[in-house]
Amino acid sequence: MKTPISKFKLYELSVQSPNWQVDYLPQFHQWLTGKDPLHFREDFCGSGRIACEWVKRSKKHKAVGIDLDREVLAYANDVNRAELKRDQQSRVQFLRQDVKKAMPAKFDMIGAFNFSYFGFHERKELLRYARAAFKSLKSKGTFFLEVAGGPGFIEPHREVKTISVPQLGKVTQVWEQHQFDPITSVNDYSIHFKLPDGEWLNDAFTYHWRVWSIRELREILKDAGFKESVVLWERPDEEGEGSGEYLPTENSELSHSYIAYVVGVK
Ligand SMILES: C[S@@+](CC[C@H](N)C(=O)[O-])C[C@H]1O[C@@H](n2cnc3c(N)ncnc32)[C@H](O)[C@@H]1O
Repeated sequence: MKTPISKFKLYELSVQSPNWQVDYLPQFHQWLTGKDPLHFREDFCGSGRIACEWVKRSKKHKAVGIDLDREVLAYANDVNRAELKRDQQSRVQFLRQDVKKAMPAKFDMIGAFNFSYFGFHERKELLRYARAAFKSLKSKGTFFLEVAGGPGFIEPHREVKTISVPQLGKVTQVWEQHQFDPITSVNDYSIHFKLPDGEWLNDAFTYHWRVWSIRELREILKDAGFKESVVLWERPDEEGEGSGEYLPTENSELSHSYIAYVVGVK
């Protein structure tokens, strides 16, 4: 009998690298605030991989993941949290909550990865989210917004890659960009998977996103109360490709497509 594979597992294996966020980004928090971040909130957490990775770093590291979707939160708890050691489990929590609502708990660092806040199309919605994040941070807290852009992120495009899925085999992942609307700045994106037996999971994930610019994000962070914002921009290597190293940057040439971080500092 065929073992059903969770689409969330396929998403994690093809899209995420939680070690990277947890190992690399806190050094910028330390640089901006002089402190090591210990209490972290993963917004739009989905299956909560980053929060689960966070609590592996030390016994002082605590994390909360928030999302609205009951199905993915059940996966976060029953699969990813359940795989942690008991002590680590006690330091991570998943909550069903709207990120636009402030929380009484205060965090050192809040992150919104894979552009999930692009789901907010109106400025007032994104501002409400930024204000709620501001209120949920300790003084000297940081708010990391992962942002994507450039012509290569809005042109119609299909990108195909193969991933190895333990106990299943080779799975093809297709990232599809549909028609960008230059008037509303809205674009549709889809993720499809083809399983080793040839079955297609079409539109396993779909996104209807407003593509926010870095400048708009910085203005919104300022209006939400953040005392400064820093842009972490990827340094190009000798061939002009991404080097994997991000540096605080104020001006840049346009890359065909980019992923950057806009960091609000409270
Ligand atoms: C792109 S997916 C998650 C991506 C994941 N953070 C990552 O890094 O790959 C977006 C998630 O945001 C959640 N979401 C959408 N609107 C939300 C809101 N207002 N508050 C909390 N979660 C929300 C959805 O349920 C979905 O799980």
